[in-house]
Amino acid sequence: MKSVSAAFRAVSLLASGALAGVQRRQQGSLQAVTTRGNAFYRGDERFYIRGVAYQPGGAADAQDPLLDLDTLRNDVANFQELGINTIRIYTIDNSANHDEAMALLDNAGIYLALDANTPLYSLNRENLASLHASYNEVYLQSVFATVDAFAGYNNLLLFFSANEVINAANNTNAAPYIKAVTRDMKRYIGAQAGRQIPVGYSSADIAENIENQALYFACGNDSNARSDFFAFNDYSWCSPSTFQQSGWDQKVETYSDYPLPLFLSEYGCIQNTRDWGEVAALYSQNMTGVYSGGLAYEYTLEPNGYGLVSLSGGSAQPNADFQTLKSAFAATPNPSGDGGARTDDSTVPACPAGSDDWEVITEALPEIPEGAAQYITNGAGTGPGLSNRDGSQWAGTPSTTSPDLSNGTTTSEDTSNPNASSGSTTGTSTGSGASASASGSAAAGSGAGSVKATLGGVVVVSLAGLAMLL
Ligand SMILES: *[C@@H]1O[C@H](CO)[C@@H](O)[C@H](O)[C@H]1NC(C)=O
Ligand SMILES: *[C@@H]1O[C@H](CO)[C@@H](O)[C@H](O)[C@H]1NC(C)=O
Ligand SMILES: *[C@@H]1O[C@H](CO)[C@@H](O)[C@H](O)[C@H]1NC(C)=O
Ligand SMILES: *[C@@H]1O[C@H](CO)[C@@H](O)[C@H](O)[C@H]1NC(C)=O
Ligand SMILES: *[C@@H]1O[C@H](CO)[C@@H](O)[C@H](O)[C@H]1NC(C)=O
Repeated sequence: MKSVSAAFRAVSLLASGALAGVQRRQQGSLQAVTTRGNAFYRGDERFYIRGVAYQPGGAADAQDPLLDLDTLRNDVANFQELGINTIRIYTIDNSANHDEAMALLDNAGIYLALDANTPLYSLNRENLASLHASYNEVYLQSVFATVDAFAGYNNLLLFFSANEVINAANNTNAAPYIKAVTRDMKRYIGAQAGRQIPVGYSSADIAENIENQALYFACGNDSNARSDFFAFNDYSWCSPSTFQQSGWDQKVETYSDYPLPLFLSEYGCIQNTRDWGEVAALYSQNMTGVYSGGLAYEYTLEPNGYGLVSLSGGSAQPNADFQTLKSAFAATPNPSGDGGARTDDSTVPACPAGSDDWEVITEALPEIPEGAAQYITNGAGTGPGLSNRDGSQWAGTPSTTSPDLSNGTTTSEDTSNPNASSGSTTGTSTGSGASASASGSAAAGSGAGSVKATLGGVVVVSLAGLAMLL
């Protein structure tokens, strides 16, 4: 079945002249990772992210680190010495070919967690008008082209639909736009990728709204719009510390009923000399029932001072931090068995109610911009890469949904190919109750336990919905 539909898509791509930038056959020897319940799996084996953030040169004028193969070859040797299985890259050139780089990583047993945005092709969170304007078809074409450029590599672990767009207590109004991008990516993957690829958001750890973010990206009737995982950047463990002192024990409690895989998309406070005590806790049974590991920030030393290697004479020299982290990984195997994961979770949490800390009063999302809908059927073609300095934020035509979302949508069409090998998580589920009374409690509590409390009020998804989720 798969080859028939793949051939069909190849023909339609040829017709649109878009074949060049697109990977269609699955490449690599690593087995693709999927999600089930609140964890990641490689086949039947639980998969923990043991990773490092990798963006040499920093975020400001980010370059694609997968195009400089000599440097990458050196760095991959260091990744292996460090003992990691994943790198996170924030910016790549989606017009370039990544076959060689992805093969280098694959041979070293390393997966890629990839951000789908670039600094110039991203949502603009300045205010509601800029959010609305930046959610346009020029932007989504770039996001979809990134999916095309990497979906064919089995060691593409997951996509981040966005990173830290909500970065303060007062810009939670970006949440519906982030969720719409997640939805659009999942629909695109369902239609075009031929395998399940997890999509979710990497959030900033904002005390006032982080728990509402976790609930919001997991809630609602539209399974396309619900994330496949939730991740946050956590710098609250500063050496020397402990599971209790850092408050990580409270977070495990807070998220103990959270239905999606959860991990740290960045960690590694530099307030004092780092002893990387986080590692022993993160991969211990204290946490693995709820967390699936994380990504240490970051590989190269940049002006902000977090790096594990310094560049001298053009080559990467591991520093003391690198050695300490390497020892921490070596001393900390994954728990055996499933680590306490919940595979049977079929609950969908209630959406958080609007409040001063959560300026989202509707479950409606902006409808996909009219000019972008056709990409889901026809493919996106080659991406803009990094050389177009105009970017997408003020380009194209925004969604016809009003900025107040009063005429937005709560359902989206299922575009998944039912014959795709590893299934998909799309489809309209029924009976996930997002009742106002159940979510009322979420608004009141901001301390530990409110996510748990809200999850107490959920309704189990019907059997039909559950079958589609598995
Ligand atoms: C949020 O607060 C900051 C600092 O108080 C302010 O500069 C910014 O304009 C506010 N943003 C919005 C969207 O209101
Ligand atoms: C696990 O939690 C217990 C307390 O519940 C604590 O004493 C122990 O140090 C923790 N283990 C790790 C590896 O953090
Ligand atoms: C939403 O309302 C605006 C007018 O406020 C209208 O122009 C637009 O077409 C409507 N969009 C949808 C999806 O109904
Ligand atoms: C899926 O497979 C069935 C038969 O096995 C076929 O009739 C159908 O057209 C296929 N659907 C797609 C979208 O490829
Ligand atoms: C979600 O689905 C239920 C059951 O079909 C329905 O009663 C409810 O109104 C839906 N909620 C939204 C926000 O669409």
